[in-house]
Amino acid sequence: MEQFFIVGGNKLNGEVQIDSAKNSLLPIMACSILIEGQVRIERVVGYSDVFAMIDILENLGSKVYWEKDDLIIDNSSLSSNEVPNELASPLRSSIFCLGPILARLGSVKIAYPGGCDIGLRPIDLHLSGARNLGAKVVEKNGYIYARKEKMQAKDIALSFASVGATENLMMLATCIEGETRIINCAKEPEIVDLANFINKAGGRVCGAGTDVVSIQGGKKLHSLSFRPITDRIEAGTFLIAGAMTGGEIVVKGANPQQNQELLSKLIKSACKIKCENDTIILTRNGKLKSFGEIETGVYPAFPTDLQSQMTALSSISDGYSLIIENIFESRNKHIGQLKKMGADLISRNGIVIAKGQKHLFGADVSAGDLRGGASLVLAGLVAQGYTTIDNICYIDRGYKNIEEKFTALGGDIKRVKVEKEINNQCM
Ligand code: EPZ
Repeated sequence: MEQFFIVGGNKLNGEVQIDSAKNSLLPIMACSILIEGQVRIERVVGYSDVFAMIDILENLGSKVYWEKDDLIIDNSSLSSNEVPNELASPLRSSIFCLGPILARLGSVKIAYPGGCDIGLRPIDLHLSGARNLGAKVVEKNGYIYARKEKMQAKDIALSFASVGATENLMMLATCIEGETRIINCAKEPEIVDLANFINKAGGRVCGAGTDVVSIQGGKKLHSLSFRPITDRIEAGTFLIAGAMTGGEIVVKGANPQQNQELLSKLIKSACKIKCENDTIILTRNGKLKSFGEIETGVYPAFPTDLQSQMTALSSISDGYSLIIENIFESRNKHIGQLKKMGADLISRNGIVIAKGQKHLFGADVSAGDLRGGASLVLAGLVAQGYTTIDNICYIDRGYKNIEEKFTALGGDIKRVKVEKEINNQCM
């Protein structure tokens, strides 16, 4: 089993280059199913979820290969419309294949998705949206069976601005003649990126990034080369790390517009932020102060994917902080682990009150999900003494070689192999 071994106390200084956004790459890879030809996705990062999505595509009959950092996906001839449980259950984004397979092949058999255990993560909005557009959808024996019947472009209102449901329905709607509008859709930058991908492939999507996205469907999409946006959550994670350790961190390839909520909270925490085009420079002036409160919500509210990292920051920020998690009902596995490191946190029903401590202390902790695992890395980088983190496969889902990036910034973190198998959730 692999662990991170971290010795805390070093300041972080230097430049870090942000990778392509995991939550853009995955829907775009699924969307390539719509295209009977070659798709080149530039600067693809080897997140473990990307490899899991490649497995799904190859099982459908895709030819997938790398050219340096570019991923070439050729879906000229697909031989299957199935996503079996062993390929669907390791990741949430497997469900993003439902719409494209149904659109392209007319029917799909797909197992339920998995993903980080941060809540129930239902898919009712994906399925009700597909039914609304005319598909016949049946759930049986752990699988979803869907097939095109009388497909009809129309207005669909989402009861919640679900990112995945918006993406799935955008992709399904591309095959339906006429205008489909998704009302109360998600507005994340990754939605805009998917719309840009579809438009570059010859589709017609308007309004992405607003509350109503319109898809003019019926036209076949064609081959293309596409460069996804960079990962605002990775950028945020490194900025929070710099705020915690002190020093000067230069985050390259970051779009300040996409992290406005975070930047305002870091400034409140006594950090100095300088933005130049696609670079954000953070230095911390003196003691960390409480950022007050954060409340997660749909974009452009504070992102749920930075909540765990901000909880780690609040553990060493002078004073009390309030963290309210509104998106996922159990995005809290990091709380108990941070408390093992000396954090003073009270957590009830998605609300956390943090009382900042002078120090955290190194401990043996376990990652329970992707972003919670990242928060433990940040805590280990500032804790007195050493910290080991188990189950780092969760962290590898959304950060490529995070330990190498932190080492390059002066952090003392290593990936080590250990024999112990207890509590090993990374098979
Ligand atoms: C995407 O997940 C991201 N994953 C998540 O990132 C991110 O946290 C989330 O959007 C919110 O921004 C990918 O893009 C691969 P949702 P998704 O559908 O699509 C409820 C990370 O750390 N809901 O917007 O699953 C759901 O229960 C990951 O990178 C329904 O009720 O998010 C949750 O409470 C974690 N019914 C809320 O909506 C549905 O049919 C948000 O879910 C779908 C969702």
